[in-house]
Amino acid sequence: MGFLKPYVGKYSRPFLTAVLFLLFEALCDLMQPTIMSKIIDVGVAGGDLHYVFKMGGLMLLITALGAISASTRNVVSSHVSQNFGTELRSNLFRKIQSLSFANLDRFDRASLVTRLTNDVNQVQVFVNGLMRIFVKAPLLCLGGLVMATRLNPRLAVVLAVVVPVVAILIVINMRVGFPKFKSVQKALDRVNGSMREYLSGVRVVKAFNRFDYEVAKFNVANEEFQTKSVSAIRNMAVFSPLIMLTVNLGIVAVLWIGGLRVSQGNMQVGHIIAFTNYMTQILFSLMMISMVFNMYVRAKASAVRIGEVFDEENVMQWDAGQSVEAGNGRIEFENVSFSYEGEPVLKRITFTCNPGDTVGIIGSTGSGKSSLVNLLPRFYDVDGGTIKVDGQDIRDLEPKQLREKIAIVPQKTTLFTGTILENIQWGREGATFEEVEQAAKMAQAHDFITGTPDGYNTRLGQGGVNLSGGQKQRVSIARALVRNPEILILDDSTSAVDVATEAKIKEALKAYAKGLTCLLIAQRITSVMDADLIVVLDQGELVGYGTHDELLKTCDVYQQIYRSQIGKEVQ
Ligand code: GTP
Ligand code: MG
Repeated sequence: MGFLKPYVGKYSRPFLTAVLFLLFEALCDLMQPTIMSKIIDVGVAGGDLHYVFKMGGLMLLITALGAISASTRNVVSSHVSQNFGTELRSNLFRKIQSLSFANLDRFDRASLVTRLTNDVNQVQVFVNGLMRIFVKAPLLCLGGLVMATRLNPRLAVVLAVVVPVVAILIVINMRVGFPKFKSVQKALDRVNGSMREYLSGVRVVKAFNRFDYEVAKFNVANEEFQTKSVSAIRNMAVFSPLIMLTVNLGIVAVLWIGGLRVSQGNMQVGHIIAFTNYMTQILFSLMMISMVFNMYVRAKASAVRIGEVFDEENVMQWDAGQSVEAGNGRIEFENVSFSYEGEPVLKRITFTCNPGDTVGIIGSTGSGKSSLVNLLPRFYDVDGGTIKVDGQDIRDLEPKQLREKIAIVPQKTTLFTGTILENIQWGREGATFEEVEQAAKMAQAHDFITGTPDGYNTRLGQGGVNLSGGQKQRVSIARALVRNPEILILDDSTSAVDVATEAKIKEALKAYAKGLTCLLIAQRITSVMDADLIVVLDQGELVGYGTHDELLKTCDVYQQIYRSQIGKEVQ
């Protein structure tokens, strides 16, 4: 729970202010029954109306003061808990953003969403609850005990039985409840996860008519959530009335014993009323304590889950970076090996890419092309060997500066909700409209964008659903180009673009790419044929390295690809 420390320091003052008001509130509450017993025993029994009015006025005054301090305390406590929740959420979001892919792979994405929303909320609710009962409930409880005992030591024997029983019930409730609420949270993760997966694949689900299957899958998660919640709530449902019952039995005992003594003339009626009032106050405070303990049980389960994210050590060194020297985008792969987990995906890859060159990367699907280029911006770190950019090992560099140099058009196009203009500008903060337009022209996106009624201000739905596959790819390329990078990585970025448009994009890039180092992954051999250098990958190994003509002579795998796509015999 180390992550909570900074907030304790920050919010201790307003917290203590709230507690101060609480204290006052509790004192006001404690005075009421005694005053009432006086009104009854002295005023009513003695027929002294003046006394009744005097004490009644005092009672009103104390109630008013208590109410004022209660509302002030409410304002302070909501302020503290809301601010605390917002900050915690924002810091958690930042932490998640700072984590590397290898770290993030350890968490279920849906569970990160629940941690960010529901879990933070639970902790926030607990903090708020704490400010409502902290000090007040124990004070009411202890104060009630003291006042009641002072009022009538004989009746207090009942308390000696009731209070320990209630305390034991509360402890058992907590012990049983904690693991249950933890499993409720896990089940909620699964509900969120299954909904998320369904929504992201909704088109496929419709196309394959797999509604029933998906509904059944969702229902399994949903019912599990129900079962777990019911079991946790049942726990509360048993214990809360049990506590209530114990205290009410105590009140019955007080009325019985008191009744006997009044009829014997040993006790006054006002004492019994005041005593039962103190008893209900004690009951009320114990109920509050057990309620906040329930909140605590949930909040603890949530805090553990939030703590897991904060405790996640970034497997990549982030801050110990040298600053990146100005260079011109020379890339060297030296003996690079890499695996996600287990099986190696890349094996001892060595090649050099000179500044300003375009390097084509080709190979069958699953051969490791995307994995290879994803190492460059350090989405993952190599297991063996080194990757150098302009002579510096990328692991020694300040990652932010390294990524500044690189623009990547990922294989899976990702666009954001917003206008096309915003999506392209996203590539570089502060890019002007002219720059955006120029990038879009190079990516051959300008024409189709201006063809829409709203042009660059056309709004894209989530993930760019209202664009075609090829249009999305071109917007994505424009976003990379506006960045003005030294190294441009295109991961199969023209796969959904027709051959003629692709040729135009390559033409524009060639003019633009002077001095720009470009890594170009492609499935079509025609896309890489005229590159300065072609790297051929096969099952994670580099099996060919050279120009198109050289490879046609020396590389079997390249020859096979050429034959299958161009359909001619080599030589
Ligand atoms: P295409 O894009 O289909 O042409 O393939 P590629 O050459 O880009 O292959 P890629 O580098 O994406 O994948 C190489 C191998 O790594 C495959 O066997 C995948 O199963 C594996 N792989 C890719 N991404 C991940 C990942 O995020 N996690 C894990 N565990 N394995 C992955
Ligand atoms: Mg790929």
